[in-house]
Amino acid sequence: MAASDAGGHCPLELIGLRKRFGPVQALAGLDLRVGAGECYALLGPNGAGKTTALNILLGFLQPDAGTARIAAVDVQADPDRARRNLAYIPEQVQLYPRLSGLENLAYFHGLGASEAMADAQLRDCLRQAGLTDTAHDRRVHTYSKGMRQKVGIAIALARRAPVMLLDEPTSGLDPEAAFELNNSLRDLAARGVTILMATHDLFRAREVASRIGILVAGRLQQEVDPASVGGAELESLYLAAVRDLLGRAS
Ligand SMILES: Nc1ncnc2c1ncn2[C@@H]1O[C@H](COP(=O)(O)OP(=O)(O)OP(=O)(O)O)[C@@H](O)[C@H]1O
Ligand SMILES: [Mg+2]
Repeated sequence: MAASDAGGHCPLELIGLRKRFGPVQALAGLDLRVGAGECYALLGPNGAGKTTALNILLGFLQPDAGTARIAAVDVQADPDRARRNLAYIPEQVQLYPRLSGLENLAYFHGLGASEAMADAQLRDCLRQAGLTDTAHDRRVHTYSKGMRQKVGIAIALARRAPVMLLDEPTSGLDPEAAFELNNSLRDLAARGVTILMATHDLFRAREVASRIGILVAGRLQQEVDPASVGGAELESLYLAAVRDLLGRAS
C-alpha cells in the first residue's frame, strides 16, 4: 500500500495518464501511486511508455488526459513548484568534463538551490553517493560511467527533494556500481524519499524495490511484491505479462 498524507495524497501520483504520439498510444490510462519512502520499479519492454511517464512527471511533456502530481502539486498547473520537489537522474548524467566532480556538484546545485552549500557539505553528498574522496577533485573526463552517475546522485541528494525519478539508472554500470547505487537508493527510501525508477534490470529491481509494476503498451499490467517472488518467478511473470499483451508466443 502506498502511504499518503493527511489529504490522502501520495508524494507521487499518476492518474489516468494518456499520451499519444501520432499513431502511437504511448500511455493508455496509466494509474500509479507511490507512497513516502517507497521505491517503485517500473519494468516494461522497449516502447512501453516508461520514459514518457517520467517526462510528464518532469513537466517536459504534456499529457493528452489525466493528472500527474508531485507532493500534491499538479505538474501541469504549477510545473515550477512541482519540480522543486523533484530530483531526476537520467540514464546519461550530463556533466562538464573539464570541471571536477566537486565543481560540477557546486555548479548544478547552485543553479537550482535557494542557498549555497559549503564545500564540506558538498563533499558529504559525494561521499554519500559513493564517490571516494580521491575522486572529488579530479576532472570528470577521467571518470567512469559509474562515477559520473554518482555525481548525478550527489546532485540529487544535495537537492534534498522528497521525490526522486531515475530512468534506467543501472544501464551500463558494472555489478559493484549497480550494487552501490541500490544501497544509496535504499538509504534514501529509509529517510522517507519517494523513488520511481524505470529499469530493465529485473535482478536489481527485485533487490531494491518495495513494489514492482509491469508496464505494457502504456498501461500497468501487473504489480508484484518483490518480497514474495524469487528472481526466476519475477522473470516468468514479466515474460507472461509482456507476451500475453503483445501476442507473442511463449
Ligand atoms: N517524442 C516522441 N515522438 C514520437 N514518438 C515518441 C516520442 N517519445 C516517445 N515516443 C514513442 O512512444 C512510445 C513509448 O516510448 P517511451 O520512450 O516512453 O518507452 P520506454 O518504455 O521508455 O522504452 P525504453 O525501454 O526503450 O526506454 C514508443 O513507441 C516511442 O517510439
Ligand atoms: Mg525509456
